[in-house]
Amino acid sequence: MANAYDRVKTDLLASPRTWLITGVAGFIGSNLLEALLNLNQRVVGLDNFATGKRENLAEVQGLVGAEKWRNFTFIEGDIRDSADCQRACEGVDYVLHQAALGSVPRSLEDPLTTNETNITGFLKMLTAARDAGVERFVYAASSSTYGDHPALPKVEEHIGKPLSPYAVTKYVNELYADVFARCYGFETIGLRYFNIFGRRQDPEGAYAAVIPKWFSALLRGEAVYINGDGETSRDFCYIDNTVQANLLAACASEKAALNQVYNIAVGGRTSLNELFALIRHNVVEVYPAALNTEPVYQDFRAGDVRHSLADISKAQRLLGYAPTHTIGAGMREAAEWYIRRFRPQLSGSKNG
Ligand SMILES: NC(=O)c1ccc[n+]([C@@H]2O[C@H](COP(=O)([O-])OP(=O)(O)OC[C@H]3O[C@@H](n4cnc5c(N)ncnc54)[C@H](O)[C@@H]3O)[C@@H](O)[C@H]2O)c1
Repeated sequence: MANAYDRVKTDLLASPRTWLITGVAGFIGSNLLEALLNLNQRVVGLDNFATGKRENLAEVQGLVGAEKWRNFTFIEGDIRDSADCQRACEGVDYVLHQAALGSVPRSLEDPLTTNETNITGFLKMLTAARDAGVERFVYAASSSTYGDHPALPKVEEHIGKPLSPYAVTKYVNELYADVFARCYGFETIGLRYFNIFGRRQDPEGAYAAVIPKWFSALLRGEAVYINGDGETSRDFCYIDNTVQANLLAACASEKAALNQVYNIAVGGRTSLNELFALIRHNVVEVYPAALNTEPVYQDFRAGDVRHSLADISKAQRLLGYAPTHTIGAGMREAAEWYIRRFRPQLSGSKNG
């Protein structure tokens, strides 16, 4: 019997819809774009390249080919500008709202800009989508909303106090989405992403996430730094699982599934020490010199939670979410992309 995701893909192929992806030039946005164009959907993308990259769009163009690329319209614009939001929402059935300034440290250094993008920008998008008669607004929420709540695994109803300005913004998104559902009958679904990783996640810059940063360091023969003792743990989730969750959320037909937030993860816990070993193992297969790299331990990072592990049963039950990739399987695929990027002469030699 076909699972929920297969059914959604079959339905979309049979009757294409129009989607808006905000933050389309970023890591998650560009992966959503690739998946939707491969399903022959019409896609509008909005991005201001704050952290997103033209190369990500070019890579997707190359992967999907010229014919499918014609179904894509790109708008270079800003979610803090209502006119840009309105223009992007014209004729759209579903919004997948990914645009935001990520990173806890960035928000600690510049809470105002994070607030303007993640809260004011979010509200402008939400309003524009409602006014344009969009069917459903699916948005990137975050596991940071669990803040200082000690329970593991994390269940959606039990959250603590936010530990960073970034976490505040992501929680406020949920509050606004809920109020738009109650006050205007506007359909929203929030996806509380845990640590997502995979192709096109940016390894560069001060705010790079840990997995791309470590791939880049190991493949360039640079030092790898671990914040704290390495026993901090996360529920790392491969990008393909995240894409699946977005499509299921946009197309969910059960009333009970609407106007909810869901944990999107795998439901497994990996320490930073284990993560380092896993990434190095994948790199060493093609670049044995990486075996000489040992991590350098430094101070714990402000605003970080110690442990994170998701209970994904709500998404499984109400959305039919069924992650296809464990961290190990995801890491093998991610490794191929980072190896191609940093050591192109070695790519293809992995696994023989
Ligand atoms: N990657 C993760 O592990 C993770 C975890 C939890 C939540 N999230 C959320 O998922 C979403 C996507 O994250 P990502 O990892 O792909 O990050 P990313 O930085 O790669 O993508 C964000 C995109 O939004 C764009 N953007 C930023 N400000 C904008 C603005 N004012 N107007 C238009 N576009 C703007 C950026 O240019 C970028 O392309 C974000 O909302 C983030 O908070 C990500």
